[in-house]
Amino acid sequence: MKILSIESSCDETAAAVVQDGREVLSSVIASQVEEHKLYGGVVPEIASRRHAESICGVVNEALYEAQTTLEDIDAIAVTHAPGLIGALLVGVNFAKGLSLATKKPLVPVHHLRSHIAANYISHKELKPPFLCLVVSGGHSHIVMVESYTKMRIIGRTRDDAAGEAFDKAARTMGIPYPGGIMLDKIAEKGDADAFKLPHPKVDDAPYDFSFSGLKTAVINIIHNLEQKGEEVPKEDVCASFRKAVVDCLVKNFIQAAKDLGVTTLVTAGGVSANSLLRRELQHECELNAFKLYMPDLSLCGDNAAMVGSQGYYEYLSSNIAQLDLNAVATLPIDYRE
Ligand code: KG4
Ligand code: ZN
Repeated sequence: MKILSIESSCDETAAAVVQDGREVLSSVIASQVEEHKLYGGVVPEIASRRHAESICGVVNEALYEAQTTLEDIDAIAVTHAPGLIGALLVGVNFAKGLSLATKKPLVPVHHLRSHIAANYISHKELKPPFLCLVVSGGHSHIVMVESYTKMRIIGRTRDDAAGEAFDKAARTMGIPYPGGIMLDKIAEKGDADAFKLPHPKVDDAPYDFSFSGLKTAVINIIHNLEQKGEEVPKEDVCASFRKAVVDCLVKNFIQAAKDLGVTTLVTAGGVSANSLLRRELQHECELNAFKLYMPDLSLCGDNAAMVGSQGYYEYLSSNIAQLDLNAVATLPIDYRE
């Protein structure tokens, strides 16, 4: 089954053609990041406008690269939630138009579910059940993936998402948006023990995260140094901050796996590209004899191939939308089975 998939939840306009949920025939991404960099973060109105300008070309390119046409496509999958509402609406309405014109089924895909599905492309043998650490710019979850479409939230952030904390800390140091990637690179050269940072825990919720206090602590360190006229040792600050965030993520994730007796662990989302997170998890999983799967680096960030993969499994579970499908800014990952 060939699915044409569309993603426009944030600042990437993307389209792909995916066969049977696992084989990527094409994947095209038009990134707006250079423009949003000027403003230090995503400007929703600009994002929507750029999606509207790019989507036709991106979809055509995806069909062309897959050497296919709309007639050969079996279904159209689109990210409908969660994300920036104006940005989502561009993809959703484009997909609805295509579905109406071609009479092909329309499949709504939850953005975080699609991040998880990136692993089905990277690892052909991977099947649920498994425990997944979903860490993106807007979300930090530990999710029990019982089946391709049945998810149970085990832990979540009480405030900032891990990616958001990385981006805000980076911004305070003058590192351009999206700071998480650059912060990770700079941290490689620093001393992670240079600054003492809190490792916040949430009372009575051992798998939940809280990153806002940690973010404030690092921002205070930077401001204090600046006020004293001292140079900010960016490499050491980045390394200490990255270590604190990664420690919290890894600790709760591994503890949840132990407590639940799950031995297959998976990561998903933009932050799963973080090099320290990848190393630490590899180490912990070896120690505990857990099997670890992480998406290829090219599939960690937003793309439409992952939407085509999850779209296939949503289709198999009869998640077919009608033309009244709407975009939704917030929607829990376990909204349906
Ligand atoms: O999943 P994603 O592409 O978009 C959302 O759904 O939010 O995640 C983007 C987030 C950004 O906050 C970005 O800074 C972060 O992922 N990110 C990283 C790294 N690469 C991307 N954070 C830390 N280390 C990285 N290597
Ligand atoms: Zn994403």
